[in-house]
Formats: sequence, C-alpha cells, structure tokens
Amino acid sequence: MAAQFNHPDLQVVVLAAGKGVRMRSAKPKVLHKVLGLGLLEHVLHSAESLAPKGISVVVGFGGKAVREYIGMPRGLDWVEQTEQLGTAHAVLQCEKNCENSSNVLIVCGDTPLLSGMTLARLVEAHNSANASVSVLSVDLDAPSGYGRILRDKDDGFTGIVEEEDADAEQRAIGEISSGIFCVRTADLFKLLHQVESNNAQGEYYLPDIVSMAVSQGLLTQAVKGADAAEILGVNDRVQLAEAEAVMQQRIIRDWQANGVSVEQPETVRIEASVSIGVDTVIRAGTHLIGSTRVGDECFVGPYAILMDAWLDDRVEVFSFSHIVSASVGAGAKVGPFARLRPEAELDEDVHIGNFVEVKKSVIGRGSKVNHLSYIGDTVMGGGCNVGAGSITCNYDGANKHQTVVGDGVFVGSDTKLIAPIEVGDNATIGAGSIISKDVEAGGLTLSARPEQRHMANWQRPSKKKG
Ligand code: UD1
Ligand code: MG
Repeated sequence: MAAQFNHPDLQVVVLAAGKGVRMRSAKPKVLHKVLGLGLLEHVLHSAESLAPKGISVVVGFGGKAVREYIGMPRGLDWVEQTEQLGTAHAVLQCEKNCENSSNVLIVCGDTPLLSGMTLARLVEAHNSANASVSVLSVDLDAPSGYGRILRDKDDGFTGIVEEEDADAEQRAIGEISSGIFCVRTADLFKLLHQVESNNAQGEYYLPDIVSMAVSQGLLTQAVKGADAAEILGVNDRVQLAEAEAVMQQRIIRDWQANGVSVEQPETVRIEASVSIGVDTVIRAGTHLIGSTRVGDECFVGPYAILMDAWLDDRVEVFSFSHIVSASVGAGAKVGPFARLRPEAELDEDVHIGNFVEVKKSVIGRGSKVNHLSYIGDTVMGGGCNVGAGSITCNYDGANKHQTVVGDGVFVGSDTKLIAPIEVGDNATIGAGSIISKDVEAGGLTLSARPEQRHMANWQRPSKKKG
C-alpha cells in the first residue's frame, strides 16, 4: 500500500504473540481472516501507510506460521516473545528495535478495522501536546471486555483498569482503551521495566504505564475520536464476524463511491483485495473473493462466485456461475451455471453457456461452447462452435492428455474428442461422433453411426390396469 503519511522517527510495534484463547482455534488469532486477509495483514496495511521508521511485529504462539503467512520481505522486524506474559512484556521485547526512534506507536494485531488516518491523528495529537503517553480511547455503549479509562474529578487521565480487575463502578465506565498507544521512547522503556504482574490475570499489562507515568509527573492523555467500530478488537468468532460485517460495508461503499453499482449490497461479498472497474454492476448474492479483478462495464451475477478470477472489460457473468483462478477476455459471456476452473483462459467475445465446465484450457476469440460441455487440457482457436453435450476425454485414468482444436472448427453435438488429439482449422465434425484420430483441416469428419431402424407396428407398453 502506498504510504499516505511520513513519520521517519516513529517506530511501530504490533503485538501479535497471543494465542487468542477465546477463538478456540489451533491457529494463531492474527491469522484468522477478515474478508480474505488475516487480522494482522489489515493492521500492517494501516501501519505501513504511516511510513514509519520501522515496524516490529511481536510474535510468539504460532510465530512461524505468522511469518510464513506474511511472506514476502517488506521491511518488518520480527521479534520473538517466547512466553506470553502480557502486553507490557511483549513491548519490552522490542527495546532494541526502538532505540533510535523518538516515539513508539503500539498497536494490537487483532484490530483489523483501524485506519491509517486514525493512527496518524493519534501521533499528531501526541506530538502537538508533547505528551509522554497518549492512548486512543472511545466511548462505547457496551464497553464490556475492554480496559476502562480512569479520569479524576477534573477529567484528567489517571489510568486504565482492565475488565478483570475493575470494580462495579469502574465497569460502568463507557470510555475504553483501544489498546493503541503512542509513547515517548525514552519514557516507555523506563516505565515498562517497572511494570508488575500483581493483577487478576497475573500478566504484565501495558496499560499500567499510564498510572505509573502520572505518578512520575509525566504528561499523559487519552485521545478520543476514533469511530467506535474502528477499534473493535477481535477476541472471539462473534467479534470476527462483526468486524467482517463492518469492513464489508466500508468496502462496498468505497466501490460505490468509485462508480460501481452493487445490487442488494447486504447480500454481496467483496473481499479486501478485489478490484472493480467503473460502470460495472455487481448483482445480488455475488461473491468476489481473493485477488479477483473485474474490469469496466461488466455485469456479474446474481449469485456468481468469483475467486482469484480476472475479468476484462464488458464481460457478463450470469447467475450461478463459478469462476476460480481463470481469466475472461473483453466482451465474453459466461453462464448461467457455468464453471471455469483454474487456468481456463477465455479470449475476447467467447461464449460459455449453461452447464459447461472449462479447465486448464485456452479458448480463442469468439468461440462458443454454449451447452452441457466439458473442455479440459485444450487449446482451441477462434471462431469455433462446440455443440451441446460435446466433451474432451482428457483423462485415461492415469494421465491427462491435450486436445488441440484449430480456428473455425464446428464440433457437432454430443461429440467425444479422445485426447491426445488434434483437429485442423475449419474442420466440421458430425454430431454424435467419437473422434480418436487427428482430424484433417476442412471437410466433414464423422465416426460411424449405428444403423437406424424403423418398426412401424411396434406397440408402446401401457400400464397394467387393476
Ligand atoms: C487489550 C488491553 C485492553 C484494551 C484491549 C483493546 C491489555 C492488558 N489490555 O485487551 O486494555 O482495551 O486490548 O482491544 O493490554 N499479546 C502479545 N503478547 C502477550 C499478550 C498479548 O503479543 O503476552 C498481543 C495479542 O496477540 C493481541 C494483543 O496483544 O494482539 C492484545 O492482547 P489481547 O489478549 O487481545 O488483549 P485484550 O484482552 O483484548
Ligand atoms: Mg484483544
């Protein structure tokens, strides 16, 4: 993601070492996905938009899996927290990585809705107040589960109490800590070394640095302002679904603002990495998943599923079609009820109709396979017409074989092309043929047909009565 801001003396620390017990999962919490990307990936996109000096990611439970998921080198420092002793302990592991920055921005890896803009505002408020510790806070109607912001009678910020340690009066406080902190580096590590674990969970709490800073006369502030949805921490699967619903609405609104029509948006899924061109219409119940790209002026759906699919401009995908890792050229029509499997490549103006499956095949410009066909491991030229019920027999039980069809070929209905096989340009194959030898260019080729008989006096059986 392109950086929107510039913070060369800020180190970001992302906390992602926890198991996420409340997810009840074998995999680390931050790898659970919201609209196709892991929780951590969303947080990293926002952190990267700040263009900070560096980003340290604290990993622990399932750390290897987390690193592998993030994959490509992108200038992150991976910091190991071997035992998850709490959020303060997690940040402490980054002391070395932070030493050349003026401030440290701490974010949790489980808040996928957080925007770069909100982070930038917290850093800005921190710098302009020249504060030691700044925390992003939010007023919630249902604050349960979060640390509560404590203020004195003059509204001064005095500390954060975790839900587990709060008394009834404190639990009634609606202002909560987002868990996002901006802290002066020199103060941060001095304070962290003093944090103790004498609390309900026996953990070293990062929020404890606030009351400690206050008692040491350092300037602290709770900066209100983020949209309540943004700081939603995902701790269980109910919150995972909530985060997805909020993000889905955001993404759809962004596409609408960019010239895409979305019919019955509450029924549509558009994942975070998808892109869509202008004047495209996404119809009800459609799912655009993974790295799917849809061009300009397309119609997709209703109820089409596209996963890692690539549609050029003016493509129409009709209802109940299923396209995975396949590409469709400009002006092509697919479906209804079509299935394009991985490595299907349709050229411009191709028509793939109902109950047609295409796998690992290239279909040339303007060719039509409109009804009840299977095309696999095939290279087909342009201008062909494949009749209803025709199939490539590409698999002998052990190996896959190739079918090559030239340009302008007409394949009569219910033909079986037994691969490996080649059909020359402009050949015509008669309906019902079983073709097991290469077909010459031009002319008519057809396999022997069973003799047709007529029995004029034949009686149709009738139902027995009584
Ligand atoms: C935390 C805050 C709480 C805040 C809430 C906001 C603490 C003690 N509590 O609570 O004040 O309102 O976030 O969502 O900080 N982690 C580590 N190492 C650890 C423990 C946790 O890396 O030893 C990571 C987790 O992977 C997670 C993040 O820190 O990404 C927060 O931990 P979590 O257990 O979710 O804390 P909350 O109970 O949500
Ligand atoms: Mg949390």
